[in-house]
Amino acid sequence: MREYLSKLWSHIFDVYLTSMRCGVYPISFSFARFLTLLSGCLCTRSSVRVLEIGSGFGFSTSWFAISFRFCKFPSFVISIDINFNNVKVALKNINVDNLVVFVDFIVCDGRLLPFRVCPYFDIVFIDADKEYYVDYLNECDKYLKIGGLVIAHNVFLPEPHKLSNFLKEILESSKWFSILVPVDPAGTSISLKVM
Ligand SMILES: C[S@@+](CC[C@H](N)C(=O)[O-])C[C@H]1O[C@@H](n2cnc3c(N)ncnc32)[C@H](O)[C@@H]1O
Repeated sequence: MREYLSKLWSHIFDVYLTSMRCGVYPISFSFARFLTLLSGCLCTRSSVRVLEIGSGFGFSTSWFAISFRFCKFPSFVISIDINFNNVKVALKNINVDNLVVFVDFIVCDGRLLPFRVCPYFDIVFIDADKEYYVDYLNECDKYLKIGGLVIAHNVFLPEPHKLSNFLKEILESSKWFSILVPVDPAGTSISLKVM
């Protein structure tokens, strides 16, 4: 994994910088490594299906795909974004070293998902407009397996008040067992779907 990352490093770094420059605000490298570690750990045991809300330019998506490159069981990430142009750039960015085989991008609103099969996903990762986190949660819940995880970025910074309904739901509802973790200063929530 370490050697593989150093081979892709200049590309990954370029995707990060371009996302920053264009105001798409990628996740941090610490958080990226956390996602790879988690999905990489799970996919050594069985297939992992990830749903990502907020592809941006594909920075976070790449880190899921990198972990799936090393796994025994076929795993993939479906990444959705409301912005067609962002998805176009993300698709170009993921087209390195065949990482694209682990990824599907869909242009749609995270509040209205186009899936038929439910429950289907093992992990939902949320990193889109903050004021709609509780709406993404309610929509994604339909497609998340019991025992699956919802991971959400930016629960501490920059505007935690926008997530107050989301935080109330994951911390107070008996449906979720959650912790808030400072993987980076922006903060992350991890919620296990218990029922
Ligand atoms: C912070 S960026 C995502 C960055 C990405 N996760 C990364 O690490 O590179 C947020 C993205 O969410 C998308 N977005 C905003 N509102 C959305 C919605 N309602 N449904 C889906 N995507 C949305 C934006 O177009 C933007 O690309």
